[in-house]
Amino acid sequence: MNVEPLSFMEAIVRRVQLNEQDKELLKQEADWGKTIAPQMADIFYDYLGRDEEMNAILNAKEGRIHRLRETFIQWFYEMFTGIDGWGKAYADCRWKIGLVHVRTGIGPQHVVPAMAVVVTAVGQQLRRDHKPEVLSDALSKICMIDLAFIEQAYSEALLQETGWTQALFQRLIAKGAAQV
Ligand code: HEM
Repeated sequence: MNVEPLSFMEAIVRRVQLNEQDKELLKQEADWGKTIAPQMADIFYDYLGRDEEMNAILNAKEGRIHRLRETFIQWFYEMFTGIDGWGKAYADCRWKIGLVHVRTGIGPQHVVPAMAVVVTAVGQQLRRDHKPEVLSDALSKICMIDLAFIEQAYSEALLQETGWTQALFQRLIAKGAAQV
């Protein structure tokens, strides 16, 4: 495996500029996060279910939707607690979620709009509950960290399958892009 989840997360934390104040605020609002998580899950799965391709994936296995709803609620709450304060356990968990999506055959093109739905839904709820703008910023940063993990899992799967190095992969992308 090329990716070391904790170092990967540390790099993304720097890039999205998640800081200590963000982390503190999120922890303070964890109870609120737990309360709204089921509503967020409803919005999320309603959105996925309206897309023909995603709906087929969701219903491909008996009980999958039910299980997913529970895992989403847990995932949502963990955005506030950081599991172990955004340490190794958090990074390993997010990396595993990325791998699950790749292994399940969900195309990477579905993931970005799905995360945008979460960001929008949580933003609307924040406004309804008169929560501060800084909480919205902090949550958006966490969503981007989690999204980066899922996206990275696709590149990693490709490198594993082909045996290519990261450098070769980047050269091929640049070459391919030059012809587009
Ligand atoms: C970008 C936002 C997304 C988040 C935060 C999210 C969250 C999760 C979580 C927490 C799991 C459980 C992983 C585990 O077992 O450890 C999961 C699995 C899964 N997700 Fe997502 N997901 C997202 C996008 C999507 C999309 C776009 C689809 C398309 C249909 C999807 C379908 C699935 C499926 C089929 C599984 C595996 C279910 C099983 O175990 O049978 N997810 N997701």
